[in-house]
Amino acid sequence: ALVNTKKMFETAYKGGFAIGAFNINNMEIVQGIVDACKVKNTPVILQVSAGAMKYMRPTYLKHLVDAAVEETGLDIALHLDHGPDFETCKKAIDLGFTSVMIDGSHHPLQENIEITKKVVEYAHERNVTVEAELGRLAGIEDDVDVSAADAIYTNPDEALEFVQKTGVDSLAIAIGTSHGAYKFKGEAKLDFDRLEKITEKLEAAGIHNYPIVLHGASAVDPKYVAMCNENGGNLGGAKGIPTEMLRKAASMAVCKINMDTDIRLAMTGSIRKVLNEKPEEFDPRKYLGLGRENVTNLVTGKIENVLGSSK
Ligand code: G3H
Ligand code: 13P
Ligand code: ZN
Ligand code: NA
Repeated sequence: ALVNTKKMFETAYKGGFAIGAFNINNMEIVQGIVDACKVKNTPVILQVSAGAMKYMRPTYLKHLVDAAVEETGLDIALHLDHGPDFETCKKAIDLGFTSVMIDGSHHPLQENIEITKKVVEYAHERNVTVEAELGRLAGIEDDVDVSAADAIYTNPDEALEFVQKTGVDSLAIAIGTSHGAYKFKGEAKLDFDRLEKITEKLEAAGIHNYPIVLHGASAVDPKYVAMCNENGGNLGGAKGIPTEMLRKAASMAVCKINMDTDIRLAMTGSIRKVLNEKPEEFDPRKYLGLGRENVTNLVTGKIENVLGSSK
């Protein structure tokens, strides 16, 4: 069924796993993702950015996701990714999204609280769950000191205040992940102590099993980077989050792991490969078909090695 994220996160928290949240942009991506989830019998979050909503067009995207629910029989949440303002969140909710993110992380704390509260109020009246974000998503170089990290990453005291004042259902935090294919110049590093502290603060205040969200969590699989580069691409120096770190986060309070870049790389690598190896090919089903197949392979690997969400 088309569901909100409430029960998903409850079971994920208690089971020490995470739900995969994959960005969708077209039919092949939707099918590629849910084909894997169907075989693995796992709930999934299909998320749509404001840009993706515009690209897919609202009615088409809603019906595509409804089709995925109907065909698979899985629990699927349709989630707005990085909602920039109340109006965009409202539009998504009115269209039938079961979950929305309001991203006020670039605002000062009190403003972020105000805008989030407004979305929570509108959403909860309609059985829609809300995610918000606190902190700046950025990797930190090895030579940056602790106070610089403190200024960028999520502050545990602020996280508690934010959750208490907004009533938001889940919180995206900054502990060293970032969006895109170039996450670290040097060694990959995540601030797991900070994640632990955030959970401790919440627990101490009587907020139990509170779900944390990890954005910028693509592993940037070298296999698909190579597939791009060997077929005319130019993605030198691409680097993601090591799988063991993601698995560790999933075993902790992280209940939602966001991946878009990995899907993009699998899709683009596949298309490049077919077109490069068969210059005479002009049937879109051939290159989009391999793209869909490799999205399924990718998501299958995520469920097995990162998420642990199979029933
Ligand atoms: O975090 C952003 C997602 O990767 C979506 O990106 O706004 O280009 O669709 P987009
Ligand atoms: P990646 O760029 O690491 O895939 O992160 C995606 C994301 O956080 C979408 O909100
Ligand atoms: Zn994100
Ligand atoms: Na978890």
